[in-house]
Amino acid sequence: RSEPIEAPEVKSEAAKKVKIGIYFATWWALNVVFNIYNKKVLNAFPYPWLTSTLSLACGSLMMLISWATRIADAPKTDFEFWKTLFPVAVAHTIGHVAATVSMSKVAVSFTHIIKSGEPAFSVLVSRFLLGEAFPSSVYLSLVPIIGGCALAAVTELNFNMVGFMGAMISNLAFVFRNIFSKKGMKGKSVSGMNYYACLSMLSLLILTPFAIAVEGPQMWAAGWQTALSEIGPHFVWWIAAQSVFYHLYNQVSYMSLDEISPLTFSVGNTMKRISVIVSSIIIFHTPVQPVNALGAAIAVLGTFLYSQLLTVETSTNCSKQALEQVDDG
Ligand code: 3PG
Repeated sequence: RSEPIEAPEVKSEAAKKVKIGIYFATWWALNVVFNIYNKKVLNAFPYPWLTSTLSLACGSLMMLISWATRIADAPKTDFEFWKTLFPVAVAHTIGHVAATVSMSKVAVSFTHIIKSGEPAFSVLVSRFLLGEAFPSSVYLSLVPIIGGCALAAVTELNFNMVGFMGAMISNLAFVFRNIFSKKGMKGKSVSGMNYYACLSMLSLLILTPFAIAVEGPQMWAAGWQTALSEIGPHFVWWIAAQSVFYHLYNQVSYMSLDEISPLTFSVGNTMKRISVIVSSIIIFHTPVQPVNALGAAIAVLGTFLYSQLLTVETSTNCSKQALEQVDDG
């Protein structure tokens, strides 16, 4: 008997799932490597403003070389594009530097536990600043997210206020970055990869003067000597690794954002945090108490619950709109 022939759309649906699966796995793996090297660098050289700037500079340089050598096609942009990109870049810069400052003060796992509360910020910003209402089930799903983060924070053995606030500021900034990015990418011919490249370049221009003002070359030179004498010449490779992997994981995440809904993206982002939290606890031997781990687990599970509820809400709205269109027609 001959095998039944699969419909082409079933095949392309399966191919799309495989492609997204590969994007996600690459994104998480690159992110884990970035987080490990970033923390190794910050432990030896506690200048998060400079390391944040170097990550953006490295990504910008990599993309300029790719465009010049035609490995990637340079995007066609106009003044309007850069104007719309500006608020995204401001939010990206604040979110990036705040997360790096946080990681320079606390364990990587702690920063990411607090960062798993990002959906809660998203709902609150949408509700209070954009006037968007959600069903009460969505608000209720924020209880485990906020409660879990709070439990993890109060039981954190190495709690530090700057570390905590840095992660909170990063959450708020990234919610704005995502809202502005969605608007900026809509209907534009610039690919996810090039959109992120332009974002890095603009963020680099914004961050550089602030990095010089907050830390400055004198501090960097002294810190550099100490790090080199303690770690040895391969410290330079740690810096290179954190910078290259920072750009690569963000580039892959923007490439997947091009293919999936922001909701699927946020589920992927939460799963990414689980890999980072677990691997960094193992690699850095971070002390964890059972109640602390419980708080983290509740927060991460709460984020899943939230994403599921929002998925149901979005698909119900879509079906309602489709029905209304049929009625109208
Ligand atoms: C950064 O340095 O920008 C943060 O580590 C980013 O955090 P996220 O991409 O995991 O939200």
